[in-house]
Amino acid sequence: MTEDSFIVKGGKPLKGDVFLSGAKNVSLKVIIASLLFDDPVYLDNIPHIADIQELLHLCKVLGCKAEFSQKNKLLIDGSGLKESTVDLLHGSKIRVSFMFFAPLLQRLGKAQIPNPGGCRIGARPIDRHIDMLKVFGIRVKYNSSTGFYDAALKGKIITAANYSFDKPTHTGTELAILLACRARGESVIKNAALEPEIDDLIGFLNKSGAKIKRNGKTIVISGVNAIESKSRVYKIMCDRNEAVTYAIFALATGGDIRILGLSGNMIAAFIDKARGAGAKVKIQENQMEFSLGKELRATKVLTEPHPGFMTDWQGPWAVLMTQAKGTSIIHETIFEGRFSYVEELAKLGAQIEFFDPGVKNPRKFYHFNWVHNQSLTEAPQAIKIYGGTKLHNGVLTVNDLRAGATVLVASAAASGRSVVQGASIIDRGYENVEEKLKILGADIRRI
Ligand code: EPZ
Repeated sequence: MTEDSFIVKGGKPLKGDVFLSGAKNVSLKVIIASLLFDDPVYLDNIPHIADIQELLHLCKVLGCKAEFSQKNKLLIDGSGLKESTVDLLHGSKIRVSFMFFAPLLQRLGKAQIPNPGGCRIGARPIDRHIDMLKVFGIRVKYNSSTGFYDAALKGKIITAANYSFDKPTHTGTELAILLACRARGESVIKNAALEPEIDDLIGFLNKSGAKIKRNGKTIVISGVNAIESKSRVYKIMCDRNEAVTYAIFALATGGDIRILGLSGNMIAAFIDKARGAGAKVKIQENQMEFSLGKELRATKVLTEPHPGFMTDWQGPWAVLMTQAKGTSIIHETIFEGRFSYVEELAKLGAQIEFFDPGVKNPRKFYHFNWVHNQSLTEAPQAIKIYGGTKLHNGVLTVNDLRAGATVLVASAAASGRSVVQGASIIDRGYENVEEKLKILGADIRRI
């Protein structure tokens, strides 16, 4: 089965400019946040990617208006919201569908939302979100016969709350902000996540009348009666994960790529690691350039929440480390299922083995919920990558979005013609990926 595939003839250094698209992990949230507004919302720099199409379909089924222009401009109008049940088929495809709790409860006082989907990179439960919802005066329970969470307001409106996450959660922090911004009173969220995408969402809401103040891991939200765009257009930030992916395309193919639309400080942990590995990185206002130095050295990576080295970057980084001199380590602490690409890279000749990193207290150390009987041998969280291996071509399958980016980078670095099956999974998070790669000189075509 080779439809829904890319054919890539690798081994060529990729050179040129990449114009970043808008951030997937901001655009999904500002669209849902727009349904809280009292007037139509005008967004810009929204990428044409599959997850956005899914989300806009969900919004329309709920009765909202969504008009997407080719030039990445999007009009969202939630005034027609009348349906309180999120579609099971589409809702279970994307993880952020549970964020509809905020506009549905705000407008209709109730919500039925299917257990969320998204990439299969671990269990990804929403126990912390559900725990947090209850603190905002919301009654919520999981109906195992339907697979839906049923939620309803206990009173007339959402009441402000003080809540501290025992472990940080990116979308959990965002859902808390959406619930609190129009609640009655002042809410304080502690141990909030620090990802810059959250601050872009906060900027969007504050520009429209919300009162949200971040002080490190504490966010104070004073509920307001109205949130209005007043026809101002809000342009979201560009995608950090896309920037890192193309930087690694440059380094893994021995090329030279200039990435436009993002400042280096947004991916500082990656730039530090790249420089540590011997890469040449030039940073200017809102752009950066990556190329190889004299030699590529092995590294040790521990993934962490922002400002650490992001979990979304470790797959493509693993491809780069197959080319480095020496043995590298990647220790994944955010998700328990983020190494699906390892067996794919082995097909190209990569030498990678799992090992037990010997964590003393895994329940505390890892950001995912440690299942009491989960042993490290079952779900190994660390790999050793033996460098200096020439990659050859192969037939690769894509299991999740970032593993898809990983095998695409590997196919561009490998000699010969490779097949990457699952192009549509890559389309979930990368806009115009083959066009952008062709501009860099890649020999890639979609079938
Ligand atoms: C967001 O996922 C991003 N997705 C992810 O990007 C990103 O990798 C992640 O944040 C970390 O930055 C979107 O923004 C749509 P978490 P999120 O809640 O919010 C566990 C991509 O490829 N957890 O911070 O789901 C969870 O399973 C995606 O663009 C619970 O156990 O991440 C994970 O192991 C992949 N229970 C860890 O915590 C909960 O209730 C951190 O998850 C919530 C989370």
